[in-house]
Amino acid sequence: MGPHFNQRYPGLADLRGRDLLSSADLGAEQTLALLELAADFKSGAQRLDLSGKALGLIFTKASTRTRVSFAVAMGRLGGQVLDLNPSVTQVGRGEPVADTARVLSRYVDALAIRTFEQQELVEYAHWASIPVINALTDLEHPCQALADVLTIRESFGSLKGLTLAYVGDGNNMAHSLMLCGALLGMNVRVACPEGFAPDPAVLTQAQALAGRAATVSVLHQPLAAVRGAEVLYTDVWASMGQEQEQQRRLQAFAGFCVDEALLAEADPRAIVLHCLPAHRGEEISAGVIEGSASRVFDQAENRLHVQQALLAALLADPATPCL
Ligand code: CP
Ligand code: NVA
Repeated sequence: MGPHFNQRYPGLADLRGRDLLSSADLGAEQTLALLELAADFKSGAQRLDLSGKALGLIFTKASTRTRVSFAVAMGRLGGQVLDLNPSVTQVGRGEPVADTARVLSRYVDALAIRTFEQQELVEYAHWASIPVINALTDLEHPCQALADVLTIRESFGSLKGLTLAYVGDGNNMAHSLMLCGALLGMNVRVACPEGFAPDPAVLTQAQALAGRAATVSVLHQPLAAVRGAEVLYTDVWASMGQEQEQQRRLQAFAGFCVDEALLAEADPRAIVLHCLPAHRGEEISAGVIEGSASRVFDQAENRLHVQQALLAALLADPATPCL
């Protein structure tokens, strides 16, 4: 008989039953412990049994990676996934969040929710008696940020002191990277056109999390942001829900493409990340996304491993035997 889950991963002890609404909901030690468990799942060094547990997916926006990786992660743990797309439940017909969240809490053990307003997620979390996971909102994408830092750690061995340059829109992805990066002692530089900066409240929060250990800055020159950086990151210029702004944004973001010229200014060991889906020739060149610095498919794979770790941390009984 191996150790109990809480003995093997003491850093995860406080996560059981909790919500993950923001990257800032995790402490540095918890984030690192999640990465450790994710790496153990990835290498096959860990197995856990969550049979009998059920995860509900409430996705108001499209998703390939998040939906599939959550479903497979839960399957690997022996649990069950229910697709609660609003178009097939009463949610789409206006049943209040307060009722939906309380009812679903009687059936399933966790909810992963993808929607527009962060406030809607907060409302689900308020009414639900089970963990609620942010599977992307307009404000944040914390599950993606976890996969990103796992991918960075795989390349560089550690995270503290590395510089991540995010080039593009100051969006949900930028927000979660600023918070998660700051928490882990990474320097985060966001380069965006004027008018597309991250939320100032998130910037202040990230700078507070960074403390004296790291810096979080917003600038408007991509070259200055990427100079010497170990990680280059970009995301679409028009996020889900902003489709009608696509043309205006194409013009505003001219010069913010992560291409070969920009990559040449980064650290020679630099890796390139993109949460996907990508628009080649817009925020990233085809050559860079397909080139030797790109880690985008490892990054996409890591969604599966970190979410398996997250589900285990939120749902596993502390006495669950593990390897
Ligand atoms: N990166 C990401 O969240 O992808 P999906 O929109 O396909 O889930
Ligand atoms: N910022 C993008 C991320 C997609 C995974 C969006 O919200 O559409």
